[in-house]
Amino acid sequence: MHVKVFKTKSEASDYAFQLLIKQKDLGPSTYGLATGSTPLGLYQLMVNSEYDFSQDQAINLDEYIGLSKDHPQSYAYFMNQYLFSKKPFKATYIPNGVAEEIHQECLNYDQILEQWPIDLQILGLGSNGHIGFNEPGSSFDTKTHCVQLTESTIKDNQRFFENNEKVPSRAITMGIDSILKAKQIILMAFGENKAHAIRQAIELPASPLCPASCLQQHANTFILLDEEAASQLSGEYNA
Ligand code: GLP
Repeated sequence: MHVKVFKTKSEASDYAFQLLIKQKDLGPSTYGLATGSTPLGLYQLMVNSEYDFSQDQAINLDEYIGLSKDHPQSYAYFMNQYLFSKKPFKATYIPNGVAEEIHQECLNYDQILEQWPIDLQILGLGSNGHIGFNEPGSSFDTKTHCVQLTESTIKDNQRFFENNEKVPSRAITMGIDSILKAKQIILMAFGENKAHAIRQAIELPASPLCPASCLQQHANTFILLDEEAASQLSGEYNA
């Protein structure tokens, strides 16, 4: 794991963008993408760049169960709004949150992941240490599956929902085993509310209690932090 601390999240996003372009320079690639506010700086850099992604593929981590791709809070809508409508990809995949057979949808998603191994996986971090929607307690050998979201995740994500609309309580997520299969991983975390999870992920022994700690088992992982997110780390980390 390479841990890098930046003064601002914008500097961290710049660094993530450079890593992404290094991958892109190798040829058509498959990117594993995340939602949430954290990767937005990176997506903005991609959108504003001269790079063409029309030969690349994107496979997203997760989706709420019960939200169709037209629902403004669905992750499909989010990705379209911030990236795909502005930078077309050759193909994009997001779990179908309104699939009739959720179990079958998970199996289909695993087939997509097998067919298109991820070259570079982008991750954010839940304040409870989740990655994708793999909540604390998730074992490290899971594939795509349906999860019950924790109260803390539902509360954290309430800010994206308006008019007292309820945050869905279930989601489909790529599993930790699938995430660890990516050739390279970039996890970004910004802000003080991520500091506790970052310390657990990096400095405590890997444990399902902090799903992001699985990244200790992946040699080609970059953890890009701003100073607030790094504030509980005891080690010396420099950009
Ligand atoms: C959701 C997503 C995660 C994301 C997390 C953090 O729970 N499923 O993939 O990392 O939110 O969101 P934010 O980046 O807004 O803090």
